[in-house]
Amino acid sequence: MIVFDDVHKSYGTFEVLKGISATVEKGEVVCLIGPSGSGKSTLLRCVNGLESYQKGRITVDGLLVDVNDPTIHALRTRVAKVFQRFNLFPHRTALENVIEGPVHVLGQPKAEARDYALELLARVGLSHKIDAYPAALSGGQQQRVAIARALAMRPEAILFDEPTSALDPEMVGDVLQVMRSLADEHMTMLVVTHEIQFAREVADRVLFLDGGTIVEQGTADQVLRAPQNERTQDFLRRVTHPV
Ligand SMILES: Nc1ncnc2c1ncn2[C@@H]1O[C@H](COP(=O)(O)OP(=O)(O)OP(=O)(O)O)[C@@H](O)[C@H]1O
Ligand SMILES: [Mg+2]
Repeated sequence: MIVFDDVHKSYGTFEVLKGISATVEKGEVVCLIGPSGSGKSTLLRCVNGLESYQKGRITVDGLLVDVNDPTIHALRTRVAKVFQRFNLFPHRTALENVIEGPVHVLGQPKAEARDYALELLARVGLSHKIDAYPAALSGGQQQRVAIARALAMRPEAILFDEPTSALDPEMVGDVLQVMRSLADEHMTMLVVTHEIQFAREVADRVLFLDGGTIVEQGTADQVLRAPQNERTQDFLRRVTHPV
């Protein structure tokens, strides 16, 4: 579904991604972990064309991701993204936030978009909050609206960039639960996360990125329980604090 083939990206003379090769198969959940500044967000931004890359290829469902191609907008509707800081429209209700894309980008009839939005908001446990504005929602609720909004576009894959790291600890579980249910339905997901326990349970595969290079990848068990690389071992020691 998503293929990275020797992807290089620099900001000026600073090379952030130094030849990334990896795949995300259809229906697979791949967690991307790694220290701050290793290039995780940059890699995600390259997938849906929010950022260009200089060398190598990224393809989504066989189609080359090229920011200069006018069809890049179509690609962005097929690969949805959920951000760390929700990015909801502040002056729109939860329901309006979810309807916005399908109506204005996909041109769906409003009634149809509304029905599906109600279904999705129910699914993320927010039927009672459909008319609430983002400011009146908790961080966890806002993030679940953001996930409903992503799903409303009927994407082929969803990218998550640390979806729970801006949340109070008691909000994290509800969001992870929604993501777990998506994984159970075989939604294709590429998830940047520091939630190692979640990655252990849900990820089919884990990529460990350090300094712009994937230094280790494998099944969740291989990478998270028995990491071979010293840098992976060191990182995991630092992030897995006992709860
Ligand atoms: N627009 C930019 N211009 C210049 N440098 C950038 C830009 N965006 C990111 N960088 C640099 O690229 C490197 C990778 O950044 P990136 O945001 O991808 O890291 P990350 O792995 O997502 O880190 P974190 O875990 O802190 O979110 C960092 O050194 C960062 O300072
Ligand atoms: Mg980041």
